[in-house]
Amino acid sequence: MKSVTDLISNHRSIRNFTNQSISKEQSTIIINAAQSASTSSFLQCSSIIQVTNKLLRSQIAILSNNQKWINESAEFWIFCADFNRHLQICPNAKLGCIEHLIIGCIDTALMAQNAIISAESMGLGGVFIGGIRNNIEEIVKLLKLPKFVLPLFGLCLGYPLYIPEKKPRIPQEIIVHENQYHLINKNILKEYNINIENYYQYRSNNKRIENWNQLIQRLMTKEMRPFMLSFLHKQGWAIY
Ligand SMILES: Cc1cc2nc3c(=O)[nH]c(=O)nc-3n(C[C@H](O)[C@H](O)[C@H](O)COP(=O)(O)O)c2cc1C
Repeated sequence: MKSVTDLISNHRSIRNFTNQSISKEQSTIIINAAQSASTSSFLQCSSIIQVTNKLLRSQIAILSNNQKWINESAEFWIFCADFNRHLQICPNAKLGCIEHLIIGCIDTALMAQNAIISAESMGLGGVFIGGIRNNIEEIVKLLKLPKFVLPLFGLCLGYPLYIPEKKPRIPQEIIVHENQYHLINKNILKEYNINIENYYQYRSNNKRIENWNQLIQRLMTKEMRPFMLSFLHKQGWAIY
């Protein structure tokens, strides 16, 4: 059996699945692992929507930039930050502060990471789907999410058709700081850019020519979902 560290360090997003299903028992074990994550002040402010209706799933896939793995995975779950539950228990709850948004995002991400690790430990694979936020208002309507429920990302789960190459991460020297923040070491970054360029150029599928600097340039110079703030306000979040 692999060590937990080996398992985690071997993670790859899986976007191609066999047609083997996931049993109810497996799904229960994965959600139990997800729920075992730490949770800020024991608020347990996350919900998982399991999308079992095929038509609903295909509508979500269309709204999420037609990512075909949403339809093809054995399971598709949506992870939400959820303070509606707290409002049901405590009608005078003071909701809508920015800290609730931060707590909701942190707790839900920790939970989701536990879920994917648990799934990977059973030989399953998966990929998170931030694409559900491309048309977040429509997603809220389709899933009938009340105020104070915020869909953050989906998770496709299933048995991998093949295992893709591991995507190299930034060297530790760049991301780890000792006592004080340091700027990027340009030589180490240069090596990483070569590493990523080789990865994209020679990987088995979906080859392309790009290094990490170019990826950052491409993604960070355009607005990202500029409708998000007004959507959050409408859904009850980040008012003050
Ligand atoms: C919150 C989140 C949202 C993501 N959304 C998508 C998505 O919509 N579609 C997709 O194909 N991959 C998505 N990914 C997967 C990332 O692209 C992937 O994790 C990253 O490229 C690193 O690759 P790896 O997971 O194989 O190591 C998402 C990852 C995270 C953490």
